[in-house]
Amino acid sequence: MKAENLQATVEQAFANLDRVREAHVQGLDAHEIGIVTSLSTGIARVAGLPGVCYEEVVKFPGELFGIAFNVDEDEIGVVLLGDYWNLHAGDEVERRGHVVDIPVGDGMIGRVVNPLGRPLDGKEPLIAEKRVPIERPAPPIMDRAPVTVPLQSGIKVVDALIPIGRGQRELILGDRQTGKTAIAVDTILNQRGQDVLCVYCAIGQRASAVAKVIADLRENGAMEYTVVVVTEGNDPPGLSYIAPYSATSIAEYFMQAGRDVLIVYDDLTNHARAYRELSLLLRRPPGREAYPGDIFYIHSRLLERATHLCDKLGGGSLTALPIIETEAQNIAAYIPTNLISITDGQIYLSPNIFELGILPAVDVGKSVSRVGGQAQRAAYRAISGDLKLAYAQFEELETFARFGTRLDEATRKIIEHGRRVRACLKQPAFEPVSVPGQIAVLLALTGRLFDNVPLERMREAELALHKATEGFPADLIKRISSFEELMDSDREAILQFARVALAPFGSS
Ligand SMILES: Nc1ncnc2c1ncn2[C@@H]1O[C@H](COP(=O)(O)OP(=O)(O)O)[C@@H](O)[C@H]1O
Ligand SMILES: [Mg+2]
Repeated sequence: MKAENLQATVEQAFANLDRVREAHVQGLDAHEIGIVTSLSTGIARVAGLPGVCYEEVVKFPGELFGIAFNVDEDEIGVVLLGDYWNLHAGDEVERRGHVVDIPVGDGMIGRVVNPLGRPLDGKEPLIAEKRVPIERPAPPIMDRAPVTVPLQSGIKVVDALIPIGRGQRELILGDRQTGKTAIAVDTILNQRGQDVLCVYCAIGQRASAVAKVIADLRENGAMEYTVVVVTEGNDPPGLSYIAPYSATSIAEYFMQAGRDVLIVYDDLTNHARAYRELSLLLRRPPGREAYPGDIFYIHSRLLERATHLCDKLGGGSLTALPIIETEAQNIAAYIPTNLISITDGQIYLSPNIFELGILPAVDVGKSVSRVGGQAQRAAYRAISGDLKLAYAQFEELETFARFGTRLDEATRKIIEHGRRVRACLKQPAFEPVSVPGQIAVLLALTGRLFDNVPLERMREAELALHKATEGFPADLIKRISSFEELMDSDREAILQFARVALAPFGSS
């Protein structure tokens, strides 16, 4: 062997030795073993891990993991991330030297996983690209771009009056059984063929409710572009607590690859409750409604991760639809007000409207979208002002009309028109409407073409109009779907189609 070759080999060997030694020292560091001193619901207290860091993962016997949550000098409080029935005081606990992480990658699409990334659908093992921590800093301001592209929900009342933009955070709130999940699921269904990936995160719901959502997604072909992250009501609170962060990391992977992603948190009320439970068990001081002091922070740091990245970073986006369940319509309770102030708007669903059979039960007066307007297609923008005004006037006058007072002609017209607006904004679940379909209905509505259609035939008339949009010339469809303002000739062409379609229903 030549001398210089030998020299290089020896240097290489020394370099390797250095690396091994460094790794060895680190390995020793992370190998503290502690002992469980006491256990309570979802919590363990552990002594003998003096070097443990805040939020570090620790391992118990039998593949059970936990997060170091309260780090005191002589004892730590650990949040358990799995079934702990076989855990005993005196069991050994091992430091892992890292925070909780989760597998991410294209292999997750179409799968149902728990917040640790373990498959729950009984299919083949996951193929992950890499593992990323579940908690990551939100993108800094300079990495963010304004919201400019709409995220079509396919729901007329939302797309016309409370539009959502890609990268926006829009809260869905309302009492139980008012159709909150239905709005979120409909929005996911409408992303079919739109090149938007979806993540549905179920937190602390009944298993039957989650099973129904998964079945609905599957039947409508939405699992092809959706990841479902699930914790059920009877899972340990630790799992419910980390679920939205895990789901966000899965979604973020796609956003950073330049994709548009939609994430639904269903719901953050259960998340807040799980966190309250953990905090009380860890004896952290309770604040308002017994929630711990950092409840606002845990939600804002979650939702700040939703954004539209600037072009330099691939231009991907993460749109968040957090859901909150109110009690007795109290939107001024602690958690709802926190989330209203964190998000860019809210869709409020009212049980009173639901009872009247007006579905989706969106209370237009109490709903708002603070950034979606800039992203809305110009064709909508031209109509929505008119529509909002007509609807608001109608709602005010309707109360009067109920007393059977004699109404003058102008008032009667406003009421009759308002009833048609309301009928047009009704929409069954799982029936998303395309952009041309929506624009045709809304234009016909503001053009007063529906005003002579009997109320009981409104649905039929609307379906006839949807059918007519299939006959629109391709270039007209293209112009409607673009972001340009509609030309007068286009508007007239749509109205002409509508007149023909609605003629059999007595439209003038
Ligand atoms: N647009 C709609 N059309 C018909 N039924 C609906 C509509 N939206 C919701 N529902 C029904 O209302 C019920 C409650 O909806 P859900 O989304 O589960 O409420 P929540 O999530 O607020 O508890 C469900 O049975 C659902 O099928
Ligand atoms: Mg629900």
